[in-house]
Amino acid sequence: MIFDEYAIKSLIRPVPGFPKEGVTFRDITPLFQSPKALRMVADSLIQRYIDSPVTHIGAIDARGFLIGSILAYELNRPLVLFRKAGKLPADTLSASYETEYGEATLQMHRDALSGGEQVLLLDDLIATGGTFLAAASLVRQSGADVYEAAAIIDLPDLGGSHQMQDTGIPTYTLCAFA
Ligand code: PRP
Ligand code: ADE
Repeated sequence: MIFDEYAIKSLIRPVPGFPKEGVTFRDITPLFQSPKALRMVADSLIQRYIDSPVTHIGAIDARGFLIGSILAYELNRPLVLFRKAGKLPADTLSASYETEYGEATLQMHRDALSGGEQVLLLDDLIATGGTFLAAASLVRQSGADVYEAAAIIDLPDLGGSHQMQDTGIPTYTLCAFA
């Protein structure tokens, strides 16, 4: 399978002014409506991590759940959910953060990870990096390590992927909109 970046980018729809003035929202729903494109995205990530020491897949609420579940199934690794505050029922760890258009708190079940585990974090997109940095702080609070943070899209002009690399979190993205 050859990854066709042009084809993938053509299925990510720009929506100017959503959810607020000045933001161009990168909408992944057309990509997920194309079985061929979704398979290309999933297969690229599977190939990258199939022989890695990753022990757990960490998927981020809500769009990260889509690709995260596919990876957890295909790599046969446990799936850990990072959810917006108030959604997880048992005892949680919390981290607050800011994004391109708001602020939020991310939570993880306190018993979901432990020392020595290597977590692959997955989301659809990196903008300011606030969401991934909050997830990484939860992983580290639990004693585990982030193996890599992977997303379909990078928005490098918002600085998140650079900041993550600077903070010692390896990042990987399949395409970028600059
Ligand atoms: C979006 C996106 C990432 C995050 C990226 O999620 O899916 O999780 O923003 O932005 P950042 O790099 O600036 O943190 P959003 O908070 O809109 O939630 P959703 O997936 O529930 O729509
Ligand atoms: N999350 C943060 N910024 C975003 C954007 N521009 N498009 C889609 N999701 C986002």
